[in-house]
Amino acid sequence: MNIEEIKKDFPILQNKEITYLDSGATTQKPIQVIKAVEEFYEKYNANPHRGAYSLSIEATEAYENTRKKIAKFINAKQPEEIVFSKNATESLNLIAYSYGIENLKKDNEIVISIMEHHSNLVPWQKVCKQTGAKLNYMYINNEFEITEEEIESKITDKTKIVSITHVSNVLGTINNIEKIIKYAHKKGAIVIVDASQSIPHMKIDVEKLCCDFLIFSGHKMLAPLGIGVLYGKKELLNKMTPFLMGGDMIEYVYEQETTFAPLPNKFEAGTQNIEGVIGLGAAIDYIENIGYDNIKKIEKEIVEYAKQELSKLDYLELYMTPNSSNHSGVISFNIKGIHPHDVSSILDSKGICIRSGNHCAQPLMRFLGIDSTCRASFYFYNTKDDVDKLIEGLNKAYEMFRKYIS
Ligand code: ALA
Repeated sequence: MNIEEIKKDFPILQNKEITYLDSGATTQKPIQVIKAVEEFYEKYNANPHRGAYSLSIEATEAYENTRKKIAKFINAKQPEEIVFSKNATESLNLIAYSYGIENLKKDNEIVISIMEHHSNLVPWQKVCKQTGAKLNYMYINNEFEITEEEIESKITDKTKIVSITHVSNVLGTINNIEKIIKYAHKKGAIVIVDASQSIPHMKIDVEKLCCDFLIFSGHKMLAPLGIGVLYGKKELLNKMTPFLMGGDMIEYVYEQETTFAPLPNKFEAGTQNIEGVIGLGAAIDYIENIGYDNIKKIEKEIVEYAKQELSKLDYLELYMTPNSSNHSGVISFNIKGIHPHDVSSILDSKGICIRSGNHCAQPLMRFLGIDSTCRASFYFYNTKDDVDKLIEGLNKAYEMFRKYIS
């Protein structure tokens, strides 16, 4: 697999002088995805599920075929178990409202981890406020990992829901979700896996994992912005009341009552983001064409190199596990004494794009005793040259600001 050939598929990486190290926030899009969206508008744009004319039928087929493709991609038993949403946040809100609020009561417990993104945290606070349930946290050790002891001490007979990120968007830690799922099921809880930061990089098999729900965003895996996925076990989805009401999610509507459509339509109210769905289908084709084995191989080389080079900078504080096998393509760091936004601005002046801030993870920042970090996140289109540019940029930032460090 020639990395330079891969880079050529990404127009923005050809058109602009940038070193893009913010794929954890959103990935760049290959030409194949851009063309698929363009082709939809040029050749078969119509509202799916709403027209009996052939253009609408064509749009419906493309929409439903992508659902089938996603089911196969994550090994769901049936396409009905795949629901389209706006993004991972909306998918999590759907579960919180339609499952959490409906099923929890006082003294039940929800367990999440301290490394959750706000989207997998704030909705659970709402569920707890509304139901009287309690929100408990699994914390991390000095190596930024959740230990087996922590899992077993926090998930108890009172736990009804465990909602956990597969990979931390700040630390890059790959959580032991296999253990969490098995243990939670033993205790009678259901498990939701936030795969937003994992599915771009590794194969996910929901049947093997046996998770109850799995959610992700398309835009972090080469697809357009504004398309998300919710996978849920059919028996659970069937029992849930829809969270959004409106067009196409109904069966019969009377003046005072409504019956809902069967799965998955009952969760897809209103005209859907069909261009996003088509783009997501093309993104999956692209990922499968390269293959997760190749993606893993390329990323491992780049991320290992980045870790090695960043570790040489003694003015840096790194926030990541030393266990390579539990770490994905996200590296958070700080130049001691310098605000991450300042570092990021200096890097930006050299065309280097990283994220700085709290990464929508304020409780984690508080736990770590910091306000924010710089974050470089890698994908298979990055090269060692990108890492060298990052190091060069950091050295420059350090030189500029060192006199202000007390
Ligand atoms: N959740 C995205 C990130 O971590 C936006 O950057």
